[in-house]
Amino acid sequence: MNTQTLINTAKAMVADGKGLLAMDESTGTCNKRFANSGIPQTEEARRAYRELLVSTSGLNEHISGAILFDETMRQCTTDGTSFIKVLVDANIIPGIKVDFGTTGLPGCPGEKITEGLDGLGTRLQTYFGMGARFAKWRAVIAIGDGIPTRTCIEANAQMLARYAALCQEAGLVPIVEPEVLMDGKHTIVRCQEVTEEVLHQVFDQLYRQHVIFEGMILKPNMVLPGLACTTQETVEEVADATVHCMLRAVPAAVPGIAFLSGGQSSELASARLNAMHVRFNTLQTRLPWTLSFSFGRALQNEALQIWSGAEENRREAQAALLHRAHCNSAAALGEYNAMMDVT
Ligand code: 13P
Repeated sequence: MNTQTLINTAKAMVADGKGLLAMDESTGTCNKRFANSGIPQTEEARRAYRELLVSTSGLNEHISGAILFDETMRQCTTDGTSFIKVLVDANIIPGIKVDFGTTGLPGCPGEKITEGLDGLGTRLQTYFGMGARFAKWRAVIAIGDGIPTRTCIEANAQMLARYAALCQEAGLVPIVEPEVLMDGKHTIVRCQEVTEEVLHQVFDQLYRQHVIFEGMILKPNMVLPGLACTTQETVEEVADATVHCMLRAVPAAVPGIAFLSGGQSSELASARLNAMHVRFNTLQTRLPWTLSFSFGRALQNEALQIWSGAEENRREAQAALLHRAHCNSAAALGEYNAMMDVT
């Protein structure tokens, strides 16, 4: 492992207002989204859609890296160029989702644990050889009656840290993603408490397992009220709750925090990220880490709807992806304005 290379990659992933395109939906998740849009759930349709994404001209002005799924890592454009080469040629760093998804956590009803540690070291070496320079592992924490339990938080934190240590050993920057879900009636205060507790546990485990904070990226949820909560805070209140939570729990040595979108609308995700910059990165103060994005749905939703599986919609879908990437990189610099989304 070359520590300086890891650090340089991690910094590049969040530099210059750029962020990450999460296009690493598993086959099951991708098929579900295709089914909702009436798109055939075939390998060729998934390939064509991912080709549309990676070959969007100008994407590299706003996107520093793209998170791929195993199937996509091995796919090519119609002219036979591997997606990895397309990305590298565009100066976009390829990354790979390496977890195998979640399963029920025994003894903890309603809670999940992420699988995929067995044989991970070998898989990481293979991905590095294929050109990946960072990886992603997602843990999910649900809020509800009596949950999350300490068992669930600790088990997931341990696995995230084991994964992160293995990544760094293999020369890959780990994206550490503990996602506190938006589903439920809980308040923003409850989300803040849970997110803070989860992050403390995650960083404790990362420290104990010798992960180099300078060579990783944190991918957390924003601090939000539950989707079914009767009080929905303003953009500014969400920005304040999120940044205060991060200030309490994320070491300053971490170069970047790249938020997931988690089911927020595209416009709200941009506005909330923007507000964090406007309110906290001023002439007088600067946050210790870069705040950026690693959005899946909040970058892709419009593009997928427009494409709908039809080749003739490709250009318009790419324009929609580019527009969202532009809005989010503006937000990552505190320069997003809702007028950018008025059509
Ligand atoms: P969303 O932005 O759609 O939540 O996806 C991000 C992601 O990579 C989830 O693991």
